[in-house]
Amino acid sequence: MTQITNKQWGGRFSESMEGFILQLNESVSFDKRMAFEDIEGSIAHATMLGEQGILSVQDVTLIKQGLAQIKEEIANNEFVWSPELEDVHMNIEARLTDLIGIAGKRLHTGRSRNDQVATDIRLYLRKSIDEIRTQLKSLMTGIVGLAETETDTVMPGFTHLQSAQPVTFGHHLLAWFEMLKRDDGRLLDCRERLNYSPLGAAALAGTTYPINRQRSAELLGFTAACANSLDAVSDRDFAIELCSALSVIAMHLSRFSEELIIWNSVQFQFIDLPDRFCTGSSIMPQKKNPDIAELVRGKTGRVYGNLMAMLTIMKSQPLAYNKDNQEDKEPLFDSIDTVIDCLRAFAGMVPHIKAKREVMHQAAQSGFATATDLADYLVKRGVAFRDAHEIVGKTVAFAIEKNCALDELSLADLQAQSDVIEQDVFAVLTVEGSVSARNHFGGTAPEQVKQAVENAKTYVKSL
Ligand code: ARG
Repeated sequence: MTQITNKQWGGRFSESMEGFILQLNESVSFDKRMAFEDIEGSIAHATMLGEQGILSVQDVTLIKQGLAQIKEEIANNEFVWSPELEDVHMNIEARLTDLIGIAGKRLHTGRSRNDQVATDIRLYLRKSIDEIRTQLKSLMTGIVGLAETETDTVMPGFTHLQSAQPVTFGHHLLAWFEMLKRDDGRLLDCRERLNYSPLGAAALAGTTYPINRQRSAELLGFTAACANSLDAVSDRDFAIELCSALSVIAMHLSRFSEELIIWNSVQFQFIDLPDRFCTGSSIMPQKKNPDIAELVRGKTGRVYGNLMAMLTIMKSQPLAYNKDNQEDKEPLFDSIDTVIDCLRAFAGMVPHIKAKREVMHQAAQSGFATATDLADYLVKRGVAFRDAHEIVGKTVAFAIEKNCALDELSLADLQAQSDVIEQDVFAVLTVEGSVSARNHFGGTAPEQVKQAVENAKTYVKSL
């Protein structure tokens, strides 16, 4: 009889998988990333089996010793991964049996790779979410720091990328803070929802041994055991949810990148990006390209793509486990790696952004950005808003003709447009006057931004 290469499931087989098909079927090349989670899950499972009298104390001791040694071997890069053993689970189990003999073969009692892999992924994602949140927090801290320095720096605020109304740069930055705050909340929600233990669901229907699922759940720090064995082994909605939360982060970072790229351009010159996050051109010596921001913007594509892949892998799968699910890992890992890298790059870059305050100020002044303030001024003196809008429109046209800013017009010129205008109009026509007047919760006034910075600091500390 032919020697069957896979000892763990080869009993009913008369020929071996080999060559290309073996390569196609294996997952150890990428699922070995979950090796420590696999070991952690096995220790909890064995401990529970021991406590329930399903395994002997001696077997459990041997299993724990063997797994501890395997962990060492993996950490020291001494472990030999073999594609013939298909995945991380069977590689570790085979090595355990090499090390401790028959006790190693008993570890799989009351368990299947189906509940095992579902457990490993959840443990891995829990750890990854914590790592992503750490990077997110560091970026949030960087944003608050810069916002604090730029509390009263005036810049044009935009709609349609047209100069709209003056805002403070600190206020603009804190808009990014709010987005990341929600991103963090999404990660936390996802973490809570995935923190349930599939262990004990076995292949799909549960197991005939007197197991204690709450106990293995508790040993692994899960909130509880999954309530339905079929669901526990089959759904990957939690992984899709994470990919979705990561897509939203990538989308935010991409928008942030886009602004940095625009502000850093020669045409805008609002900011100077630190040299170490930029590159030069091999042909044009004058250039300083915002490569890192562009790269982060570009990487959004793969993060969205991974989400689409995950949704499509899950779609149409009948209950319960199907091998389709082996395809979940590469996109999932890629999204995690990509977003961690992007957050790390931004967290390093943002605190060193130099605001070119005079340029920003000049830009805020030159785009008639205080036109709305003039309209509001007229309204406060009894002019109906629609009429005020019309009057200010004409005033802007007049200023364009005279090639000057609104606050450079003479009082007489302004009064020719509306007789309710008096000397105090100049206080609202300056960009400083404009931002200070928006002095309410969530507004752009420096006083509000100062308070928002304090709130943001408290929030970050609470994370
Ligand atoms: N490598 C597999 C996966 O990632 C592990 C589970 C395999 N189970 C099975 N019955 N073939 O999903």
